[in-house]
Amino acid sequence: MNIFENNGHAIIWGDVIEALTTEIPDNSIDLVFADPPYNIGKNFNGRKDRWPSDEAYLSWCYEWLELCISKLKPTGSLYVMTATQNMPFFDIFLRKRLHILSRIVWAYDSSGVQARNYFGSLYEPILFGVKDKDNYTFNADDILVEARTGATRKLIDYRKSVPAVYNSKKVPGNVWNIPRVRYRMDEYENHPTQKPTALLDRIVRASSNPGDLVLDPFSGTFTTSSVAQLLGRNSVGIEAEETYVKIGLRRLAIREQYNGEVLRREPKIYEQQESPSQQHLAIFEGRTPWNTTSPQ
Ligand SMILES: C[S@@+](CC[C@H](N)C(=O)[O-])C[C@H]1O[C@@H](n2cnc3c(N)ncnc32)[C@H](O)[C@@H]1O
Repeated sequence: MNIFENNGHAIIWGDVIEALTTEIPDNSIDLVFADPPYNIGKNFNGRKDRWPSDEAYLSWCYEWLELCISKLKPTGSLYVMTATQNMPFFDIFLRKRLHILSRIVWAYDSSGVQARNYFGSLYEPILFGVKDKDNYTFNADDILVEARTGATRKLIDYRKSVPAVYNSKKVPGNVWNIPRVRYRMDEYENHPTQKPTALLDRIVRASSNPGDLVLDPFSGTFTTSSVAQLLGRNSVGIEAEETYVKIGLRRLAIREQYNGEVLRREPKIYEQQESPSQQHLAIFEGRTPWNTTSPQ
């Protein structure tokens, strides 16, 4: 296990159970966001997302969930994701240990090939629970959205003595329409299940305050830690795969180099090509466009 730290942000490169057990003190965390492997056969840089049985997957999940709960402060909140078919088991397990406040549906459209013989899945569930339902952080005013009334002009309340525009802001409901991270988006990293910053932005703003400590036990591309950093929170992220740890070190500006390698985002395919004016220059200089090497 290795730990990298800078300015209130820590990355633990190691196994979730070991890291939670040995590195995170009990009652120290304000907010947990856990986005584990879903047991659906994804490939995390060679690490298999497939357990021998549902029971084996669930008993592993119950182990780290129990640990996460013990790391939460009495005022803490936990958000957890998993595949739709596993969430009922998480729900039954967690409702004996936390107060479940919201069952959130993260809904998105997909440009990919859709199921033709059944209704394809276009959402992922998120469970939100707190330790103490009478004492937890929820910054409603920091996450308000425009209530969609369908009106094209501002709605005026004429019953007031001085007519006033209706307050059209509201706390989002439990269906969140947020696009998935696409290759062309600036935030894209090379990871099969990267979560959007917009999703974490809402969670971190709502359920933590500046200076609070946010824990993500399956950090992947370190979306949670990166959002926490932008919003002035502190963070701890755990990740087993070195390739993804390097993304975190770069995204959180903890390291510029790693084992002699300069950490930079992989250029996208279209970024590797030259612009039309660069192509003309290349032809003028006797070079093949796309080949930036000057002629000898
Ligand atoms: C669903 S992804 C998390 C994606 C992340 N939320 C993001 O926005 O990029 C799950 C991550 O857990 C990591 N992982 C799998 N098994 C682990 C383990 N035993 N300990 C720590 N991390 C693990 C995987 O490498 C993968 O990056």
